[in-house]
Amino acid sequence: MNPSRCDRTPAWGSLQAAFDATGRTFDVRQAFAADPARFETFSQAAPHVFADLSKNRIDAETEALLLALAQQTGLAAHRDAMFAGDAINNTEQRAVMHWLLRSPPPDPAMPAQSLHIHMAEALHEVHTTLDAMLTFAEKVRTDTHITDIVNIGIGGSDLGPQMAVLALDEFVLSGKRLHFVSNVDGHELNAVLRNLKVESTLFLVASKTFTTIETMTNAQSAKTWFEVNGGTDIARHFAALTTNVAAAKAFGISTTFGFWDWVGGRYSVWSAIGLPLAIAIGAQGFKQFLAGAHAMDEHFRSAPLAHNLPVRLGLLDVWYRNFHGFSSRSVAPYHSALKRYPAYLQQLEMESNGKRVDATGAALPYGTSPVIWGEPGTNGQHAYFQMLHQGSDVVPVELVAVKTPLHALPGHHTLLLANVLAQAQALMQGQVDEGGHKHFTGNRPSTFLLLDELSPASLGALIALQEHRVFVSGAVWGINSFDQWGVELGKVLAKDVELRLKNGNDSGLDGSTAGLLARLR
Ligand code: F6P
Repeated sequence: MNPSRCDRTPAWGSLQAAFDATGRTFDVRQAFAADPARFETFSQAAPHVFADLSKNRIDAETEALLLALAQQTGLAAHRDAMFAGDAINNTEQRAVMHWLLRSPPPDPAMPAQSLHIHMAEALHEVHTTLDAMLTFAEKVRTDTHITDIVNIGIGGSDLGPQMAVLALDEFVLSGKRLHFVSNVDGHELNAVLRNLKVESTLFLVASKTFTTIETMTNAQSAKTWFEVNGGTDIARHFAALTTNVAAAKAFGISTTFGFWDWVGGRYSVWSAIGLPLAIAIGAQGFKQFLAGAHAMDEHFRSAPLAHNLPVRLGLLDVWYRNFHGFSSRSVAPYHSALKRYPAYLQQLEMESNGKRVDATGAALPYGTSPVIWGEPGTNGQHAYFQMLHQGSDVVPVELVAVKTPLHALPGHHTLLLANVLAQAQALMQGQVDEGGHKHFTGNRPSTFLLLDELSPASLGALIALQEHRVFVSGAVWGINSFDQWGVELGKVLAKDVELRLKNGNDSGLDGSTAGLLARLR
C-alpha cells in the first residue's frame, strides 16, 4: 500500500474537511469583498505569462492545504526525478526529457561533471540535431522553388506544429504555404494534393514511431501521387521526422531528422517534429520558442511551490476535480491564431492524465483528467457560453488574452479585451432575476492568463506552462502521465475490422458491429 497516494495523505482529509466546512459554499464575490488584496494574493507572474487566479474558489487556507498535499505526495521529488532524467515513465521504462530539447547548448565554461554524463551526451546530441534541422529549415525557407510544405503526421506529430504554426502566423515567411494532413480520411489528403505541384512541394513525414497506420497510409499515397505526377527526386521532396530513422530509410526517405524515445509524442513539438514551425518562422524564431519554454522550465524547477505557476494551476485542477467534482475545463483563447490551442491541450492533458490506475496499475478511487474543450473567444460566446453562464454544471474556464496585438485595425483589440474581461466578470458576478430566465447564479470560476504579445517566446512559455501543470496534477494523482495504453485497443481492433470489411467475415462479432458491417458491404 502506498501511503503517499493523495487520498491517503493527511492533507487530503484536511482538504475534504475544508471543502465541507467552507469550500462547498465558497463565494468568490464575498471573498473579494472581504479581502482588498485578493487580486495580488491570487495572481502569479511567471516568464512571459501573468496569471490571475483570484476569480477561483480558493482562499489562503485551501492553497496552504493544497501545498501540503503536494508535499505529502512528493511532488517536488517527482519533478526533480524528471529533471534528473530518471525513468519516471515506468510502464515503458523511459526517461521524460522533453525539457532538455529547450535547454541552451552546453556551456564550455561549465565543468563537465556538473551534468550527469548521460545528460551531457544527450544535450550534445540535441544541439547537433537541432543545428542540422535549423540549417535545413533555413534552406527550405530560402528555396523559392518550394512553395508548399505538407506535414503528414497525427496526434503529437500534428497538433503541436499545427497549433504553433497557426499561432505564429504573423511571423511566417510569405511565399510558403504550410498544410497539415493527419486524418486517414482520403478527403483530407486529396483536398491538399489537388492544389499542389510536384516540383514545388516538400512533404514532411512526421511520426515518432514511423508505424502509425494513418501517417503511413497518407505518406504512401503522397509518395505515389509524387511519382505518378513525374516526381523522381524523393531526397529533395520528402523528409522524415522520427525516432525510427531505419524505418524512414526503408520507406525510401533519405533526408531524416531524429529524436529520442525520451520525448513523448505530445511533448515533441520542441524536437524535429517542430520542423514545420522552424521552416515557417525561421531558425531565430524557433530558438526564441525554445528559449521561452526553457524560461518556464527554470521557473517550474526553482520557484518555491507557493509561487510556482504550474504548481498553483495543477493543484487548483486537483481541488476542482476531486473536491468540487468539476469534470471539465473549458479553454477560451482570446486570440484567433490560437484556434488549435484547445485541440492541442486536449491531447496534452487527456492523453497524459486520462488514466484510472496509478503508476503501479492499481485502480484509483478518485477522478483524474477533466474533459478539456473550447474554441477561441469571442466565437465561443455566441455558441456554448450560454451553458457556461446558466447551465446546470459548473465548468471552470481558462481564458487567454494578449495585451498587444500585431495588427493595426482600429477598435478590434479594445473590443476583444472588453469581451474577455466582461465574460470573466459575468461568470463571477452573475445577475439576479426573479423570473428565472435572466438569472445568472455567478460564482463561476475562471482563470485569466495574460501574455504581453503572442510571440515565439511567449507561446513557448505558455505551452511549457501547460505541460508542467499537467505534470503536477498527474504527480499528485500518482499516475504515469507519460504513457498512453488507452489508444492501443482501438488500433488492434481496427486491423481486424479492416480485414472483415474486405472479406465479409462477421463471425464472432457483436450484433451491432456485424449489422453495420453488413450495411457497409
Ligand atoms: O495513438 C496515440 C499516439 O501514439 C500519440 O501519443 C502520438 O502522438 C500519435 O499516436 C502519433 O504517433 P507517431 O508520432 O508515432 O506517429
